[in-house]
Amino acid sequence: MKFFIDTANLAHIQEAQELGVLDGVTTNPSLMAKEGISGEQNVIDHYLKICEIVDGDVSAEVISTDFDGIVAEGEKLAALHPQIVVKVPMIRDGVKALRYFSNKGIKTNCTLVFSPGQALLAAKAGATYVSPFIGRLDDISQEGMQLIEQIRLIYDNYAYDTQVLAASVRHPLHIIQCAEVGADVVTCPLDPIMKLLKHPLTDIGLDKFLADHKKANS
Ligand code: G3P
Repeated sequence: MKFFIDTANLAHIQEAQELGVLDGVTTNPSLMAKEGISGEQNVIDHYLKICEIVDGDVSAEVISTDFDGIVAEGEKLAALHPQIVVKVPMIRDGVKALRYFSNKGIKTNCTLVFSPGQALLAAKAGATYVSPFIGRLDDISQEGMQLIEQIRLIYDNYAYDTQVLAASVRHPLHIIQCAEVGADVVTCPLDPIMKLLKHPLTDIGLDKFLADHKKANS
């Protein structure tokens, strides 16, 4: 399973990259705004900085919601760097744009997916990635993980190439459950990734090893 980091924070991206487990980055307009990135050139520069840090795919989201606008924006973003993946919302003109980009060999990430039907459409339109939002479904008392299972089953039934990119991942258990049900990718902030490495017995065990070594060598 690939690990993407879901942030536009360069320090967090750098930290995950240095850990040696990072396969890519996802951003969205909210995450860019959180880092105070605004204005076309600043946004472009920021994407380029992200591409310099990480080796893998970097999702950059379009703002337009009409076909012509999505295509114009997406082509501009894709031309910035070979690692850029154009992130397109799951709306009618977004689906049309997914097919357009797919035919042109431009990588896409279909975002804001909350149902198996939406995921099926994204795959049929040739999306490279589909982003079902687990946490936001959990927020409204629907089982987000069940959606990942449903999409996995549908994509396997028909051997769709579209990769299941579990998004809105909020905690380590989400990551583990995604791995159990066969998500291709999880994207989440740095914190849940770092929490995966913690276990109290690891800390207790290491303290004991180091204390015993000290005793034997003093
Ligand atoms: O990748 C989508 C993600 O940014 C949404 O996460 O926690 O705002 O639901 P969240």
